[in-house]
Amino acid sequence: MNNYGPLSTNIMPSKISIAATRKAESVGQTVVIQGWVRTRRDSKGGFSFIELNDGSCFGNIQVIAEAALPNYESEVKKLTVGSSVRVEGEVRASPGKGQATEVLAKNILVYGIADAEAYPLQKKGHSFEFLRTIAHLRPRTNTFGAIARVRNCVCNSIHQYFQEEGFLYLHTPIITASDCEGAGAMFQVTTLPLDKLPTDGAKIDYHLDFFNRPSYLTVSGQLEGETYACGVGKIYTFGPTFRAENSNTPRHLAEFWMVEPEAAFNDIFDNMDLAQGLLKRIFRDVLEKCPEDMQFFSERIDKTVLETLNHILESEFLHVSYTEAIAILEKSGEKFEFPVAWGSDLQSEHERFLTEKHFKCPVILYDYPRTIKPFYMRLNDDEKTVRAMDVLVPKVGEIIGGSQREERLDVLETRMAEQKLNPADYWWYTDLRRYGTVPHAGFGLGVERVLLFITGMANIRDVIPFPRTPGNADF
Ligand code: 4AD
Ligand code: MG
Repeated sequence: MNNYGPLSTNIMPSKISIAATRKAESVGQTVVIQGWVRTRRDSKGGFSFIELNDGSCFGNIQVIAEAALPNYESEVKKLTVGSSVRVEGEVRASPGKGQATEVLAKNILVYGIADAEAYPLQKKGHSFEFLRTIAHLRPRTNTFGAIARVRNCVCNSIHQYFQEEGFLYLHTPIITASDCEGAGAMFQVTTLPLDKLPTDGAKIDYHLDFFNRPSYLTVSGQLEGETYACGVGKIYTFGPTFRAENSNTPRHLAEFWMVEPEAAFNDIFDNMDLAQGLLKRIFRDVLEKCPEDMQFFSERIDKTVLETLNHILESEFLHVSYTEAIAILEKSGEKFEFPVAWGSDLQSEHERFLTEKHFKCPVILYDYPRTIKPFYMRLNDDEKTVRAMDVLVPKVGEIIGGSQREERLDVLETRMAEQKLNPADYWWYTDLRRYGTVPHAGFGLGVERVLLFITGMANIRDVIPFPRTPGNADF
């Protein structure tokens, strides 16, 4: 028994998704579908058309509700946008354009009405800024439904790709004591009473804190990931990472999802191939498995997305050294806000010039100056550059950052001293170089950056369900 009363027949028709109902093969079946009303139109002939969506696919199903339904006048004709219903009915071939099927209702049960005066999504065409203020309702819009499905497809591809390549899925800690990127922009985790900090003289006494020491939310699972790569060979982590930098840009989040593969015996060129393979796999799967959603993005968000993704599938990513990139930028004659000089980090305007104007495709830049990259990247023989690699794409800029790791203990220790890191804090990390050290490499792919690129959405706050940015953790 359920609380919503009996269906019209004794044999329970199957509850199926609207995605399945929309397929021509379902014609003739009696089904139960459930979802939210997108529109209701009453025809003069004494029946109504209800467009229903349940999130299983982009398209709606058209339900035909005839006046003979017992609750036609009392309930069906009062259905508003956003109301939730269960419909039992027969799937028929649709005479309408753009849809293979429709459902002739035998029974409509109303779960809940959405008050037309108050429901914020009653009207279409809200700005993305406004929708961020109703992050709990935006999954009911076309755009956010499409993003949710594409995001799911991307995550599934990531797992499939690494599983097929023989990588083990590894869970690295969210709470950590080490700062991987050395940027110092970490969220502290504590149970100390912040209004009455226990001090030991002038200093906070961390012996009274939960972990007996300062600890933080992780910025990256890489360092812990390396310990497993140097034991079981190939691993990947996939989880949330946290950065407390005060970056209010359309490309930065304080909490974002990162996938980080790490492979023993890989050098930087193996690492580049792995990154290219992963990105191509993700793009191919999205085009294949989410064609309706991708069609929507190309029609309504950015008309270049399909062409761009298809073009990437057919081409090899370019490998360009940082030094070559600087030479190209210097010769470009372009006026940049930030000056170009060997030794300084590339700004997003430089990255965009390279990918959008000069190469017009994804580029893997490698061998960056040692002074602008973290301690763990392998020093090159020139002693000026390290084996870093960034994958840059048009419009978004960096979507992957990685490197071959420094596997020589003495060089690693020199680099740590250079960056004022205390080797005692990293004793377990340096141990990997003490006992059976091996060359190895890995990278981090920002899931939301990839989603920006795939969908053409302009703001990273719109490709994660509940964005965390400076001043905003409302939902
Ligand atoms: O380049 P990043 O900082 O690299 C690392 O964290 C390395 N430990 C990864 C590794 O080698 N295992 O970050 C990797 C990627 C970036 O390329 C970008 O796509 C994404 O993570 N990312 C962000 N995405 C959204 N908001 C932010 N604040 C981000 N910071 C980095
Ligand atoms: Mg980076």
